Amino acid sequence: MQSTPKTFRIKSFGCQMNVYDGERISELLTDRGLAAAPDGADADLVVLNTCHIREKAADKAYSDVGRLKRDDGSRPMIALAGCVAQAEGAEAKRRSSMIDIVVGPQSYHRLPEMIAEAAGGARPVDTDMPAISKFDALPKRGRANPSAFLTVQEGCDKFCTYCVVPYTRGAEISRPWADIVAEAHLLIDSGAREIILLGQNVNAWEYDGRGLAELIRAIVRIDGLERIRYTTSHPVNMSDSLIAAHGDVDKLMPYLHLPVQSGSDRVLNAMNRSHSVESYLRTIEKVRATRPDIAISGDFIVGFPGETEAEFEETLQIVDAVRYAAAYSFKYSPRPGTPAAMMEDQIEREVMEDRLARLHSRIATHQLAFNRSTVGLDTRILVERPGKRHGQMIGRSPWLQSVHAQTTAAPGTMIDVTMTAAGANSMAAAIRQKEAA
Ligand code: 5AD
Ligand code: SF4
Repeated sequence: MQSTPKTFRIKSFGCQMNVYDGERISELLTDRGLAAAPDGADADLVVLNTCHIREKAADKAYSDVGRLKRDDGSRPMIALAGCVAQAEGAEAKRRSSMIDIVVGPQSYHRLPEMIAEAAGGARPVDTDMPAISKFDALPKRGRANPSAFLTVQEGCDKFCTYCVVPYTRGAEISRPWADIVAEAHLLIDSGAREIILLGQNVNAWEYDGRGLAELIRAIVRIDGLERIRYTTSHPVNMSDSLIAAHGDVDKLMPYLHLPVQSGSDRVLNAMNRSHSVESYLRTIEKVRATRPDIAISGDFIVGFPGETEAEFEETLQIVDAVRYAAAYSFKYSPRPGTPAAMMEDQIEREVMEDRLARLHSRIATHQLAFNRSTVGLDTRILVERPGKRHGQMIGRSPWLQSVHAQTTAAPGTMIDVTMTAAGANSMAAAIRQKEAA
C-alpha cells in the first residue's frame, strides 16, 4: 500500500495540449499542499501524462511505468493520465500492476481525491467525460512561462479514419469566452508575453456565435501581451475571418500549422479528411495573399492503408507546392477501434520507412530554404531560455524558428535582432543596437 504522497513529478508526452494539462495538474497538486520534487530527487507520486496518437507513445508509457521501480525495490505512487489512460481504462491496471490510478484527460481535476483513495489501498479509475468542465474545478493560474499555452477547445468531431482523438478526447467542446479571457489576463499578469491558444481543432472554436478570429482580436487588446498564436487548425475550419486576422492583427504571429496528411485525393477521401488537395492549396493561397511572409507547417502520414507509390509521390508534390517552413511526418500506425485499422492493404513497415525517409528529406530541403530566406532580416525575438553556450539565450522568431543570440536579456524579454545564419533547425542572430535618439 502507498502512503499519502508529499512530493510529485509530472511527465507529459505527446501534444501541446498534454503540456498544458500537465501544467494544470501541477497547479492543482500544489494547491492541495503537495510540492514538486526537486530535479534528480525521488518523487512520492509520479503522474505519467500519456499520448495515444501513435503506437510507440503508448508502449513508451508502459515501459516508463516499469522504469519507475527504484533500486531498493520500492516505487512511487503512479498515476497514469492522458489519452492512454482514457483508451485503456481499467485494462491499464491489468497491463501493469504498478499503476495505482488511471485518470483520463477530462477528469484529472479529481486527482486529489483519487490520490487519497490510492493511499487507502484502492486503485481508482476515472475516464468519464463529465458535462461539468474540469476547468471549473481547477485552481486559478499562478505562474506562466514567457510563452504560455491556453486550451480553448478540446475534442474532435471530424473522425479521420486513422485517429483515436475523437475517442480519447471526446466531442468538440469550446470553452466559454469569459473563462478564456480571464485565464489570458491571469497568464499575462503572471509573466506570459505570448499566448498560444490550443485545441485539437482550435479554429473550430465557437462560442455564442463568435469565432476564433474575434477571440484573438479581444485577447491582443490585453495590456502586456506581445504575441498570440494558435494550434492545431483543421483545413475546413480555416474561415475567411481568421485568414483576415492574419492580415491586420499585428500581434498574431505569421505562422500557421495546417495539417494536410496526404497529397492524394483518394487517400484524403479514405482518411475522411473532408478537404481535397485543391481546396487545401486554395486556402494556403488565400492565407499567403493576406500575409505573404507566413510560415506554413503541416502534418503528414505515410503508409496509410492502400497508399500506392504514385499516391505517395503526390504527397511529395504537395510539399513542393506549399514549401513548408516546417512539418511533422509520421508512419501510419493502426489504432485499435479506428476504421482504418480494419482496412485491407496495410502497408509493410519497410515501405513506410522508405517513404518516411524520402518525405523527411524533402521537408528538410524546404525548411532550410525557408530558414535561409530569413537571413539578413531585422526582426524581434521573444527570449525564452538560456542556450547551451555561455552567454547565449534562445528565443523564438515570429515564424517560430528557434533563434540563438548572445545576450544578457532575461526570459520574457523582446529583443531586436538581425538574423545572421540559418541551420536546419535553428537560426543565429545578433542583437541590433538601438539607434541613438
Ligand atoms: N498514425 C500515424 N499518425 C497519426 N496521426 C494521428 N493519428 C495517427 C495514426 N494513427 C498524426 C496526424 C496528426 C498528428 C497529430 O498525428 O498527422 O495530425
Ligand atoms: Fe484526429 Fe482528424 Fe480530429 Fe485531427 S481532425 S484530431 S487527425 S480525427
